[in-house]
Amino acid sequence: MKAQLVLPQGARALALATFPSVVELRSARTLLRAWRDDDLPAWVAMNADPEVRRYFSSVQTETEALAEAGRARANLARRGWGMWALEIPGRLPFAGMVGLNVPSFEAPFMPVVEMGWRLPRAAWGQGWASEAAAAAAAFGFDALGLDELVAFTTVSNQPSRRVMTRLGMQHDPAEDFDHPTVPEGHPFRPHTLYRLPRSRFLRR
Ligand SMILES: CC(C)(COP(=O)(O)OP(=O)(O)OC[C@H]1O[C@@H](n2cnc3c(N)ncnc32)[C@H](O)[C@@H]1OP(=O)(O)O)[C@@H](O)C(=O)NCCC(=O)NCCS
Repeated sequence: MKAQLVLPQGARALALATFPSVVELRSARTLLRAWRDDDLPAWVAMNADPEVRRYFSSVQTETEALAEAGRARANLARRGWGMWALEIPGRLPFAGMVGLNVPSFEAPFMPVVEMGWRLPRAAWGQGWASEAAAAAAAFGFDALGLDELVAFTTVSNQPSRRVMTRLGMQHDPAEDFDHPTVPEGHPFRPHTLYRLPRSRFLRR
C-alpha cells in the first residue's frame, strides 16, 4: 500500500492510500468487487430507467453509461478502491454501484472522499445499499485512515438521504450548496451535504 497525494485545489490535501489490485469488500449479504464486462448490459439498462435516474437531469444513453462505467473501472484499477460493482451473492450477480469517490468540482467542503450508490429498481427496499455503503465506509475509515466521509444529493432525493441517515451521517442545512455541474435554475441544482465523522459511523 502506498500513499498518493491528491490536491484538488487549495492548501489542504488528502493523502490517499492506493492498493496494487482491486480490494473486495464483503458484508453479511453484499459483495463490493471489481467490475466485469458482463455487468455492463445491466448497468446500461439501469441507467436507461427513468425511475433510477429520477433525481438526475436525464437518463443515460448507452454511450454515456459505458463512459461512466469506464471511469469507475479506471479509478478502481488506479487506486484499488472506488465505486465498486455491487453483487448480492446468490441473488443478483450485478446490483449496481456503491462506493467511494474523490469529487473534482469546486465547493467549500473540498477536498473530501464522498460515498455514492446507485442500484437498479429490482434491488431497492432490501437494505443492500446501506449495508454495502457501510462496508465501504468501514474501508474508508480503517484502511484509508480517513477522519470523515461525506455524501451529497439533490435536496428532494429522500431515498438517498435515508441511506445517509442510516449510516449515521449528519446534515447541516447551512452547508447546502448549488452543485456547479447542474445548470442554474434546474430543480436538481440545490444539494444537501451530509458528513460522517469517524466517531459517528454506525458500524454493522
Ligand atoms: C438511493 C437508493 C440506493 C436507495 O435504495 P434503498 O433500497 O431505499 O436503500 P437500502 O438498500 O438501504 O434499503 C433500505 C430500505 O429497505 C428496507 N429494508 C427491507 N428489508 C431490509 C433489511 N433486511 N435490512 C435493512 N433494510 C431493509 C428499509 O426499511 C428501507 O426502506 P425505507 O427507506 O423505505 O425505510 C436507491 O433509491 C437508488 O438507487 N436510487 C436511484 C439512484 C440514486 O438516486 N442514487 C443516489 C444519488 S445521490
